[in-house]
Amino acid sequence: MNQNEAPDKLSENLSGKAPDGLTGEAAESLLDEARCEINGIDREMAELFCRRMAAVRKVAQYKAAHGLPITDRAREEEVIRRNAALIGDEAIRPDYIAFLRETMEVSKEYQRRLLAAKETSAGGTPGRWETVMRLREESYPITVERGALARAGEYFAPDRKALIVTDSGVPEEYAKRVAAGCREAHLVSIPEGEASKSPETLFLLIDAMMQNNFTRGDCAIAVGGGVVGDLTGFAASCYMRGIDFYNIPTTLLSQVDSSIGGKTAIDYGGIKNIVGAFYQPKGVLIDPDVLKTLPERQIAAGLAEAIKMAVCFDRELFERIEASNAEQILDEIIIGSLRIKQAVVEKDAKEAGLRRALNFGHTIGHGIEAERGGELLHGECVALGMLPMCGGEVRRRLLRIYEKVGLPCRFDGDVSRAIAAAAHDKKAEDGGIRVITVERVGEFEMKRETLAGLESRARAVWGN
Ligand SMILES: NC(=O)c1ccc[n+]([C@@H]2O[C@H](COP(=O)([O-])OP(=O)(O)OC[C@H]3O[C@@H](n4cnc5c(N)ncnc54)[C@H](O)[C@@H]3O)[C@@H](O)[C@H]2O)c1
Ligand SMILES: [Zn+2]
Repeated sequence: MNQNEAPDKLSENLSGKAPDGLTGEAAESLLDEARCEINGIDREMAELFCRRMAAVRKVAQYKAAHGLPITDRAREEEVIRRNAALIGDEAIRPDYIAFLRETMEVSKEYQRRLLAAKETSAGGTPGRWETVMRLREESYPITVERGALARAGEYFAPDRKALIVTDSGVPEEYAKRVAAGCREAHLVSIPEGEASKSPETLFLLIDAMMQNNFTRGDCAIAVGGGVVGDLTGFAASCYMRGIDFYNIPTTLLSQVDSSIGGKTAIDYGGIKNIVGAFYQPKGVLIDPDVLKTLPERQIAAGLAEAIKMAVCFDRELFERIEASNAEQILDEIIIGSLRIKQAVVEKDAKEAGLRRALNFGHTIGHGIEAERGGELLHGECVALGMLPMCGGEVRRRLLRIYEKVGLPCRFDGDVSRAIAAAAHDKKAEDGGIRVITVERVGEFEMKRETLAGLESRARAVWGN
């Protein structure tokens, strides 16, 4: 049934011969009666809603006065469990749970508004930014707050075992600070670098959980960049068919991009991210203070992913990056990027359409990554990969930003080999590879491009 047909079919069913055999008139009076009842219930619910929000207001005041986070995941789950048990009819219990979750989101949004109004009227800038990735049963809070690392336990319901995974390049005090907030923390540090996204390291984590008798109720927490996040998320998705996973990203790239959205994976057989799953975290905690120890080159690589999102979706953010010293507005860049990614993922969690725009720059970028054999960082390759996919004006603006933040502007390698490598990990369907192009800042297009077309784009920019 297409959408145009739907209303006619509906009224036919309701006013004509109803499917259960009722005649038109009887069916209509039943319909009126049901609608009347619903109207009455809605009136009562409007009253209850006002009372509920008044109570929420009190909770918000208390939380603001005591510096408590708006989101308390453990409590929410408990409330949902308790209330869901009140619904006797199993067939509609999941709907009621969905309704409760939505109601909680509405309440939290209201609390946030109240808090923001309070902060604005006090003249201060909000110290904490919170949002909820709305994915029905898989919804989760994302918090950005300087110094939040020390309060991680509070966010993640520490009353259970936690496998805390970090890597050898991340200053160890970060994971230790997180561990200090947990009731029973088991810390694992893996070697830094992409090579750790391997089956061996995956099973190292699984072993650590088995040896410490982790059950389904326990959790895994990543404290590191995209490598630690991708690996830990995947381990959490596999262990006992899935335990809770929390992400505390510590690189700019993982704070703006990889920590939210639920993509987890390891590499295998020489292919990046070939074994993985969509597995949403239960919470993401971003502490921009940890970026103080991150090398500048890594900051620039993370900026590349933020620029990617801004150039496709948000002209204002792009212009802010253009006009500022990026390192001085990192919080703004992180929050701006998260907003974009959140909106995209909420609309298309499994990358069926819109989410593909987040791959802007990644087709040629992956080719360059393969061709330069680990010499360039992922973000640097993405920065280069965007250049051939833009209009001239956009490219000039990007290059000015790259120069300012220290991203590479030229690809000196072999363009044909890079394009061949790019094609290798994309299925070239009939009509070519799906790509994203940007002719004007803040707008993108999805197109199909042949390999020859990609190659001539790259040659036009680099000439080699
Ligand atoms: N899941 C997704 O949606 C997604 C998206 C993009 C990238 N990724 C993956 O992310 C990975 C790249 O992530 P990355 O760029 O964060 O790299 P990374 O995890 O390798 O981290 C980069 C380096 O920085 C070090 N480091 C991390 N935090 C630090 C800190 N605060 N201070 C000092 N050093 C620190 C690490 O030890 C590492 O050596 C790739 O495997 C890529 O496939 C995943
Ligand atoms: Zn990327």
